[in-house]
Amino acid sequence: MHVVIAADHAGIQLKRDLIETLGAAGHTVTDLGAQSEESCDYPDYAVAAANKVASGEADKGVLICGTGIGMSISANKVPGIRAAAVSDPVSAKLARSHNDANIVCLGARIVGPEVAAEIVQAFVATPFSGGERHVRRVGKIMALDCANRPEEV
Ligand code: RB5
Repeated sequence: MHVVIAADHAGIQLKRDLIETLGAAGHTVTDLGAQSEESCDYPDYAVAAANKVASGEADKGVLICGTGIGMSISANKVPGIRAAAVSDPVSAKLARSHNDANIVCLGARIVGPEVAAEIVQAFVATPFSGGERHVRRVGKIMALDCANRPEEV
């Protein structure tokens, strides 16, 4: 699987750890930054990663900031993205099987490195269940991408 990963300054060390975790599990990882702990703006990194996933260039995305919240709010603005901020492996698994989430967002100030590794492993290993009700609900989520866009003139 091709996974894109990005973090703001708060998530730099956890990003390094998770690149190792994903690489060791045999995934191809593209690191979109940031590369230093100098203060930066998480939406810039969220959108860069979300565009790669939405275009199909990457299969999944991992985004890290202090809480995971800013990254998820930002990534979910990109059409085609279903980004889930999670703090435990069960939620990561359900975000895949029920919501077909394509990006997982983590808070480096919320979860430790071992839990974060379990979350990411669960996220990339779990398929969408494909059950009729989940397909219908995810379809309704994706219809919102278009439904709420102002008419173009
Ligand atoms: C940066 O201090 C922090 O606000 C950011 O990493 C993130 O937690 C925002 O949601």
